[in-house]
Amino acid sequence: MMMASRGGATKLASSMMLLSRSFSAAAARGMFVKEAVPARVTAFHGDAVRGFLVRGSEFCCRHGSTASFSEKDQQQNAQLVSEGGDKEEKQEIVSYWGVPPRKVTKEDGTEWKWKSFSPWETYSADLSINLTKHHSPVTFLDRMAYWTVKSLRRPVDLFFQKRYGCRAMMLETVAAVPGMVGGMLLHCRSLRKFEHSGGWIKALIEEAENERMHLMTFMEVAQPRWYERALVFTVQGVFFNAYFLGYLISPKFAHRVVGYLEEEAIHSYTEFLAEVDGGNIENVPAPAIAIDYWRLPPESTLRDVVVAVRADEAHHRDVNHFASDIHFQGRELKEAPAPVGYH
Ligand SMILES: [Fe+2]
Ligand SMILES: [Fe+2]
Repeated sequence: MMMASRGGATKLASSMMLLSRSFSAAAARGMFVKEAVPARVTAFHGDAVRGFLVRGSEFCCRHGSTASFSEKDQQQNAQLVSEGGDKEEKQEIVSYWGVPPRKVTKEDGTEWKWKSFSPWETYSADLSINLTKHHSPVTFLDRMAYWTVKSLRRPVDLFFQKRYGCRAMMLETVAAVPGMVGGMLLHCRSLRKFEHSGGWIKALIEEAENERMHLMTFMEVAQPRWYERALVFTVQGVFFNAYFLGYLISPKFAHRVVGYLEEEAIHSYTEFLAEVDGGNIENVPAPAIAIDYWRLPPESTLRDVVVAVRADEAHHRDVNHFASDIHFQGRELKEAPAPVGYH
């Protein structure tokens, strides 16, 4: 990760003006030429900002070609940025917005290398959580949720067999969906009904983010094959829409399903640990991203990571069964303060 220097900032500002001017001129004439101006690059932090700027890059490339940049100008305006932590990729990003780069450091003063999360989002997993807690199905909907999840387990077991690293990675692509869908629907409801959410929007989106970080972690120890990527693509399309509809029709059922899915996740990670302990899966050093995210000691191993992830799943289990219980009691989520930051 490189920070823009003061000199670079001056050049950036001047080039921003050029680009901005050229865009205005192009837009006014309705002329968009396809040749792309080589993109300038600057350093920014955070996925949201970077994603935005990458889009900005495409935009500029399309529209900025009417500018009369010289080769020298273009080269002067280029700075390099590293992407995605220790996976160094060079990508050029154009910005005429002038969003200033922000230097993020760790507590020890060293540079923070992760773009997908910040130091203030890290935590120590609460490993004392009860892993064996189970919500016994009581109502018809409970039983339906329970057997829905149980029936999904069989094909998953057959597909992955004992490939627990791959299994974890693939299932996290699904696990990160419900929180985002639930949070989004509660967000829309809050807007629609002019009402507070009780913090549940944040709590559910936090869960989705946490699940996504599980995925980012397992990506470091397992690489998806092409057909697994295709499977994720398909499953996400089906599951997102099914959960969306399910949550609209019955949030209590939707949360109960997730509660049971999390119970299964705990079970799967326990089996994963048994394989590691039995020597069938090599207990490799923990990925650096995991050490920073869960604030693990530097000498941590894959086993420590799985233990932390499993504790997270137990927290998700509690949050979702709790949310479902609120609905079952005829109450609304906003009536019970959400367990924000519950790890
Ligand atoms: Fe997870
Ligand atoms: Fe989970």
